[in-house]
Amino acid sequence: MTSSRPHAVTPSRSWRDDFRVLYRYVRPYRWAMAGLVLLMALVGATNAGMTYLIQWIMDTLIIRLDFRRLPTLAVAVLLIYAVRAVAMYYSTAVSRTIGARVVHDVRRRLFLHVLEQPTLFFRRFPSGQLSSRMTHDGTVLQQGVTEVFTDVILEGFKALAVVLYIFWLNWRLALVALVAVPFLIVPVAVIGHRLRRVTEQFHGAVGDLTHGFYQVLQGLRVVQAYWGQARERRQFEQKADGLLQIQRRWVFWNALHPPIVEVCLGVALFGLIVYGAYQIRQGDLTPGGFTSFVAAMLMVYTPLRRLSKLNDLLQQTATAAHRIEQVLLYDLRLPEAVAPVTFPVARGELRFEGVGFWYPGKSTPALVDVNLSVAAGETVAVIGPSGAGKSTLAQLIPRLMDVTEGAVYLDGHDVRTLRLRELRTHVGWVPQEVFLFEDTVFNNIAYGWPEATEDDVVRAARQANAHEFIQQLPEGYQTVIGGETIGLSGGQAQRIALARALVRRPRVLVLDEVTSALDSESEAHIQAALAELKGTCTMIIIGHRWSMLRLADRIVVMDKGRIVDEGTHDELLRRCALYRRLWRRQVVEASR
Ligand SMILES: Nc1ncnc2c1ncn2[C@@H]1O[C@H](COP(=O)(O)OP(=O)(O)OP(=O)(O)O)[C@@H](O)[C@H]1O
Ligand SMILES: [Mg+2]
Repeated sequence: MTSSRPHAVTPSRSWRDDFRVLYRYVRPYRWAMAGLVLLMALVGATNAGMTYLIQWIMDTLIIRLDFRRLPTLAVAVLLIYAVRAVAMYYSTAVSRTIGARVVHDVRRRLFLHVLEQPTLFFRRFPSGQLSSRMTHDGTVLQQGVTEVFTDVILEGFKALAVVLYIFWLNWRLALVALVAVPFLIVPVAVIGHRLRRVTEQFHGAVGDLTHGFYQVLQGLRVVQAYWGQARERRQFEQKADGLLQIQRRWVFWNALHPPIVEVCLGVALFGLIVYGAYQIRQGDLTPGGFTSFVAAMLMVYTPLRRLSKLNDLLQQTATAAHRIEQVLLYDLRLPEAVAPVTFPVARGELRFEGVGFWYPGKSTPALVDVNLSVAAGETVAVIGPSGAGKSTLAQLIPRLMDVTEGAVYLDGHDVRTLRLRELRTHVGWVPQEVFLFEDTVFNNIAYGWPEATEDDVVRAARQANAHEFIQQLPEGYQTVIGGETIGLSGGQAQRIALARALVRRPRVLVLDEVTSALDSESEAHIQAALAELKGTCTMIIIGHRWSMLRLADRIVVMDKGRIVDEGTHDELLRRCALYRRLWRRQVVEASR
């Protein structure tokens, strides 16, 4: 399963864009963030307090051996650490909570967004990509938000407090001590740029790998039946190796950070010792002041080590945020009418007027100038060769897609002006591919109408000719079906899908090739069910089985997106060449 889908590499963004994107996610928590900043400033202040105490201890206790102030000192140390402990507890708790909340919001928004999207949406974002964005990028965002906005601010404050303190203590020595800091900036920026590119590739590659994995899982039976394991393994290894390469590049650039910081620290300490010793000899600096300085230096460089990773962390997080944003910004939802027409009861009269439909990116339209009127209660069969546009036509009725030209009317109202929810209650649609949820038979049927009572479900199952076989299942209506192992035949699954459509008592029933994959016995079951329903609601039956055509009051023949003829079986057999051809094929097949 080759996926040529190139992973979307976002155009290079600036630092400010990154911050802006992240800020949008934490904006709802800005007051909590403000509180956090205060707490962190407090932690920073305790750092400066500690450096001050070191100087005091050295000069008073150790050098002058003056122990009178020992109790005050003990209280001061305890106090500083108590404040620090409380502030750190709250800042960690608040920041982790914000991170968790941000990702909670994001997952919820993503899910609600995807839930409303029509099928075309998933051509751009297939399920593997979406899951990767929901889980992997979600986690990266959570960690990133916590770290970028908290650790970074915290470390920043710690560094700032100490820097202010040492400048206050002895600004000349402070300048010497910090002389190496500017030299940190250039290599950190260069590495950051490199890391940014690698991170983007990394995210794309993770999405690709997940997507490939999903595809194989979905088609595993086909893979095994066609002995495709070797091919799939090669493709997987290729992708996984690619990912490993990218990660190794990332590790290389990322590992360069600490040595650079260490070298700068060494240079700074050297400068500090030389100039500090000179100042002590001159009498400008006490030994305690000097010790305090060295301690401060170590305290400044620890936060700096972490700050040097800020760029890397920031763009990892922002890349994740951008990838989530891409999904949220891609919105193909059908617009709900501003003032929708509501009608709780429908007659079921359908009309297509000049309907055209283009699938995006296709060179030919799927439907061209389709005009068709179906009276309430009428049964119309639609037939035509594969690719004629039958399924496309069917999906326009419950508005799973919107026409690109013309309009579809239900009871004289353009379906785009109706309340979507009501429209879909009036129109029952049984798709070409059956889908059953991993749930009980009862819930699968009641999905069509959550308020359905047991009687409703049994009625629908009877109408769909499914009641008998359901009763023979091990736990009757409470048997769990669907998921990986359906445990039902194609015909049984099809009848449950039909019951799901019928449980709402739709006024219009659209059946897309419901019998095409069935044996004659299952077909007879469905045909009997539809014969019962005939006349009680408008039916559009797609498919060219004779049993279905016989039910129809009228047959519509489609080809290449157009309606080429319509009439009764006999009329069409007489005058429509395409119908004759399709019909003959059907007869030949049936006689085999
Ligand atoms: N999701 C899609 N994206 C792009 N093009 C599509 C999509 N679905 C269908 N088409 C195109 O639209 C045209 C009509 O397809 P449609 O599925 O409506 O045909 P159909 O008559 O139902 O065929 P079949 O009898 O095989 O089910 C085809 O040319 C097909 O390639
Ligand atoms: Mg079809």
